[in-house]
Amino acid sequence: MILSQKHLLGLKGMPRQDIDLILNHAVSFKEILERPIKKVPTLRGKTIVNLFFENSTRTRISFELAEKRLSGDTINFSANTSSMKKGETLRDTARNIEAMRIEIIVVRHPAVGVPYFLAQCTKATIINAGDGTNEHPSQALLDIFTLKEKFKELKDLRVVIIGDILHSRVARSNIWGLKTMGARVAVCGPSTLLPLEMKEFGVDVYTDLNRAIADADVLYILRLQMERQNSGLLPSLREYRERFGINKQRLKKVKPSLVILHPGPINRGLELSSEVADGEFSLILDQVTNGVAVRMAILYLLGGGDVESSGV
Ligand code: CP
Repeated sequence: MILSQKHLLGLKGMPRQDIDLILNHAVSFKEILERPIKKVPTLRGKTIVNLFFENSTRTRISFELAEKRLSGDTINFSANTSSMKKGETLRDTARNIEAMRIEIIVVRHPAVGVPYFLAQCTKATIINAGDGTNEHPSQALLDIFTLKEKFKELKDLRVVIIGDILHSRVARSNIWGLKTMGARVAVCGPSTLLPLEMKEFGVDVYTDLNRAIADADVLYILRLQMERQNSGLLPSLREYRERFGINKQRLKKVKPSLVILHPGPINRGLELSSEVADGEFSLILDQVTNGVAVRMAILYLLGGGDVESSGV
């Protein structure tokens, strides 16, 4: 079985079979990661460049580790020390990288659409590691994988995404992916951080946190993206914490089986208290662990990995 697409640009419109294929392979790769020798020769001879124009801890390390676990040759590109600082365009940068026979480009960029642009102007396979406020597909796939591990079946699971929906590529990719998997998705946040088109996404929309979380199976807490806020969107951080911050007090009446996800990095004490982030409901570090296996599956399926040598 192969994916229906050459690139991973987003989960909007991604067929269910493709998501299932990635998740099923991730199960096998997770088993490999639990072995004493965590490496397979699947992408031997393939070269991958990680092109990050925005800060990252989890996504960048996770992709790099996944590439190394698959025996790919990995190159990390830093925009700050590249010739882009001398005025080279993104297109020229990408085409020069491609000319060195690089097969896969993993790209994170603050501008929406950069992965789509690279898919048009190079022959390399492009993996979107986050483009502006648009999509972060590998994050949503690892979130869905984590929820499947916990609940087995996502159909009719009530997932409430809370916080800064307006600026969140994680929210968008999760909405598309979770809806494809049959989950019931709601969003909740201050009206200034809820995009106008949310109703068209086919999700329930709340501005009252207590109403939103009453029958939730999953609370997906988003980071308040200080770097993308325009002035006037929030009266004050204190008010945001009081109305939308998740702490133990808030969780007194939730389902006992509730789980909490957060993509990281966490603003501790703002959108999420430390006792909840580190507490019994939290699957936050499971998300990070699963990220490596899910990204191995993505790289394997897009990189034309050798099934015989994959160990899966
Ligand atoms: N979840 C996520 O994208 O984290 P980083 O920004 O650290 O990669």
